[in-house]
Amino acid sequence: MTVREIFETMDYGTAPEASTEALDWIAREGGAFGHFIGGAFTGPGATFATENPATGAELAQVTQAAQDDVTAAVAAARKAQPGWERLGGKGRARVLYALARALQKHSRLFAVLETLDTGKPIRESRDIDIPLAARHFYYHAGLAQILDAERPGARAMGVCGQIVPWNFPLLMLAWKVAPALAAGNSVVLKPAEWTPLTALLFARICGEAGVPKGVVNIVTGDGAVGEMLVAAEVDKIAFTGSTAVGRRIREATAGRGIALTLELGGKSPYIVFEDADLDAAVEGLVDAIWFNGGQVCCAGSRLLVQEGIAPDFHARLRARMDRLRVGDPLDKCIDVGAIVHPEHLARIRALVDANHAGEVYSADAGLPDGCFYPPTLITGLSPAAPLMQEEIFGPVLVSTTFRTPAEAVALANDSRYGLAASVWSESVSTALDIAPRLASGVVWVNGTNMFDAAAPFGGVRESGFGREGGWEGLSAYLRTEAPGKPLKRVAAFGSGGAAAEPDPVDRTAKLYVGGRQARPDGGHSRTVYDRAGRPVGQAPVANRKDVRNAVEAARAAAGWAAMPAHGRAQVIYYLAENLSARADDFAARLDRLTGGRSGAKEVEASVDRLFTWAAWADKFAGDSRAVPLRGLALALREPVGVIGALCPDEAPLLGLVSVMAPAIAFGNRVVLVASEPYPLAATDFYQVLDTSDVPGGVVNLLTGPHADLAPTLAAHADVDAVWSFSSSDLSAEVERLSAGNLKRTWVNDGRARDWSGAAGEGRAFLEAATEVKTVWVPYGA
Ligand code: NAI
Repeated sequence: MTVREIFETMDYGTAPEASTEALDWIAREGGAFGHFIGGAFTGPGATFATENPATGAELAQVTQAAQDDVTAAVAAARKAQPGWERLGGKGRARVLYALARALQKHSRLFAVLETLDTGKPIRESRDIDIPLAARHFYYHAGLAQILDAERPGARAMGVCGQIVPWNFPLLMLAWKVAPALAAGNSVVLKPAEWTPLTALLFARICGEAGVPKGVVNIVTGDGAVGEMLVAAEVDKIAFTGSTAVGRRIREATAGRGIALTLELGGKSPYIVFEDADLDAAVEGLVDAIWFNGGQVCCAGSRLLVQEGIAPDFHARLRARMDRLRVGDPLDKCIDVGAIVHPEHLARIRALVDANHAGEVYSADAGLPDGCFYPPTLITGLSPAAPLMQEEIFGPVLVSTTFRTPAEAVALANDSRYGLAASVWSESVSTALDIAPRLASGVVWVNGTNMFDAAAPFGGVRESGFGREGGWEGLSAYLRTEAPGKPLKRVAAFGSGGAAAEPDPVDRTAKLYVGGRQARPDGGHSRTVYDRAGRPVGQAPVANRKDVRNAVEAARAAAGWAAMPAHGRAQVIYYLAENLSARADDFAARLDRLTGGRSGAKEVEASVDRLFTWAAWADKFAGDSRAVPLRGLALALREPVGVIGALCPDEAPLLGLVSVMAPAIAFGNRVVLVASEPYPLAATDFYQVLDTSDVPGGVVNLLTGPHADLAPTLAAHADVDAVWSFSSSDLSAEVERLSAGNLKRTWVNDGRARDWSGAAGEGRAFLEAATEVKTVWVPYGA
C-alpha cells in the first residue's frame, strides 16, 4: 500500500471527550437541583428532567419555580443590591475578575456539561462558548475598574431580571450577568428550561469567586417562570430569545418605567459576490449556518449568491456539506451535533416539510438516529417564500441569486429582521460599499459569526433593541440621568369669551409635511387662546391620515442620512441663524402663548441648542474596538431612521428644538407632534425651516391632541422609534403599541425634564438618536 492509498482509505477515528467529570458533578449535587437564591441552593421542588438530546438520557432533575421562588429571588436581589453598588467599580472588578478566573479553572467541566445539555459539539463549547464567556467577565472586570472615573455619577439600575435561551446557555448568561454586575446591579436570571445546567454550575462558582450573597440569583423553569420574572418588581428586563416572546415582554413591561433590552431572532443574509474567494466563502458558510447546528440567532441562514457563480458555488457547497461530520457531540472530530430538543427538531422538520418549492439537498448520509437533522441546502427559492423569511433555527440554508449589488442590498434588506449580515468580495470597494447599506446591527466582511466582549452585538427592526458588549452594553445597565420630578399636565388656556379681532387675511396655521404646508386632512382647526382668554390664532388638528402622510414624507427623505455630517451641521447652524434673526417675533409669540415672560430666554436657549447639535453632528461617528481577532471591529453610529416624537408641552419652542435637532443632526427624519397647549410656536417654526435649506420631509410638524396622535405614531410599521415627552402621560400606550414592529421607544414615564439645562441636551440624546452598527473588517491579516 502506498502512503497515498493509506490516506485515501483512512477512516476517521472517533475522539470522544469523557463525560465522567460532568456526570460526577451532577451526582455530587444529588442529581436534582433547586434554585440559587440569596447565595444558597433551595431544596428541589416540583422538578422536571433535563436531557442529553444526543442520547435522550436524563441528566438531572431541575425545579419548576413557583411564584414564591421568584418573589424570594427578587427580594434577595433587592436586599443585596445597595451593598454591591456601594462596593464601587473597583471592588466589583475584583469579583468579576475572580469569576473569569473560575470559569477558566473549570473550563473543561463547563464545556462538557454544556455539550451534554445542549447537544452542541464539544469543539464549539470548548473553543468558543466557554472562552468567550470568560473573556466577557474579564472585559467587564475592566469596565468596572474604570467605570467610576469614566462615567462619574452613573448609577446602577437596581435589580435586573434576565431571561436567556438554550442555544448558548453559559455564553448568554455571561452576556447578561457580567455587564449587570459591573454596573452595580444584582440579578435574577432564568436559564432556558432545556439547558439549565451550566447556569447552576455557575451559581456554584459564584460563592468560590466571592460574589456576595443575593447579587446573583438563578431560578429555573419554563416560560411561565419567565413571565413571573417579567411581572416582578424589577428595574430592568434583559431578554434573548424568540421575537414572539420578545414582543410579549415589550407589552408586559409597557408603562412600568423599567428598562428593557431585547435580543431576538434573525434571518441573516450571507452575500457572496462573484469576485469573492469562493472556497473561503464556502468555509465561512460552515461557520455561518452549521455552527451550533444553525441554532444561532445571527446564523447566516439566507444565502444570496451572484447569478454568474451560483452553479459553481452551490456545487462546491454541496461537496463541502457531504464532508461535514454529524454525530456524537462529545466527539472532538464532529462538526455538527444534536438538535437541542426533540420538540425543536419537530419544529425544524415541520417548517422544511411544509415547503415544496426549490431544490432540496440534504447531506444525510450517515446521519445518526435520534435528535439530529442533516445539513440542508434549499436553492431556487423566491425571495417571498416562507423559508426565505421565517427563522428556521436549524442547519438549513436557503439560497437565492442576485445580479447587481443594488439587487443584493434589496434582497438582503427584504426581511423583518435585522440582526447580522456577511458580505464576501475580494473587492474592498464592493464590500465597504455594501456594508453601510445593510439594515443590520452587525456586518461581517469576508467573515462570519465573530463575537467579542468589546464589540457591540444586537439588532435593528424586529431583531430587537439594545446592544450587548462594549460601553454600549454596559450603558444598558446604567442610569445616567437622575429621575425628574413628576410632570404636571399642561393644559391649554380656554376662551375668555372675547371675540377674535377681525382679520382680513386668513392666518390659520397649517401642518408642515414633506417641506410644504398642508391643510389637516380632517379639515379641523382649534382656536388657541392666551392666558386672558383672547384668541391668538387657529391651529390645525391633525388626524391619523396626517400622521401617515408625515411618516411617508419622512421615509422618502432618506437622502438626508446619506448627506455628510458636515453638511447636516451647516444646515442646523443656518437654522440657528435664521431663528436668531427672528428672535423678537418668537419671544413675543411665546410670551403671548404661555402667558409667561421668559420667551426671549427660551428663544436664546433654542438657538444655543441648535448650535450644540450642529456641533455634535460630525463628532459622534463611532470608533474601533480592540478585539482579540485579526481585524477591526468598527462600532459605527448610524441614524435610527424615522423618529416620531411627542414634543414637550411645557417648553413649546425649546422642547421642539431639543427633540428635533439631535435627531436630524445624525441623519434621522422626524415627525414631530408639537406642544399640545401651545402649538403655534411650531407652526411659526416651519417658516424658519423653509428658509434654512432643510430638505423637504426631514422635519414634519403636526399639531393636535397628543392622546389621539400617539397611538398612530406608536403603532406605525414604518416608524423606527417613538419618543414621548408629552405632559399627558402616554408612556404606557406608546410602549405597548410599539411592540408591533418592536420600534425603539424613549418615554418620560411622567417625569419632568429641565429642557433649559444640561438634561435637555445630554448624552441620552446622542444614544437615542443613533444606532450602533458593528462592522468587522479584515485588517492586518
Ligand atoms: P423562547 O423565546 O420561547 O425562549 C427563550 C427564553 O424565554 C426561555 O428561557 C423561555 O423559558 C423564556 N420564555 C418563554 N416564554 C416566555 C414568556 N412569555 N415570558 C418570559 N420568558 C419566556 O424560544 P424557544 O421557544 O425556545 O424557541 C422558539 C424559536 O425562537 C426558535 O425556533 C428560534 O427561532 C427562536 N429563538 C431565538 C433565539 C435567539 O438567540 N435569538 C434563541 C432561542 C430561540
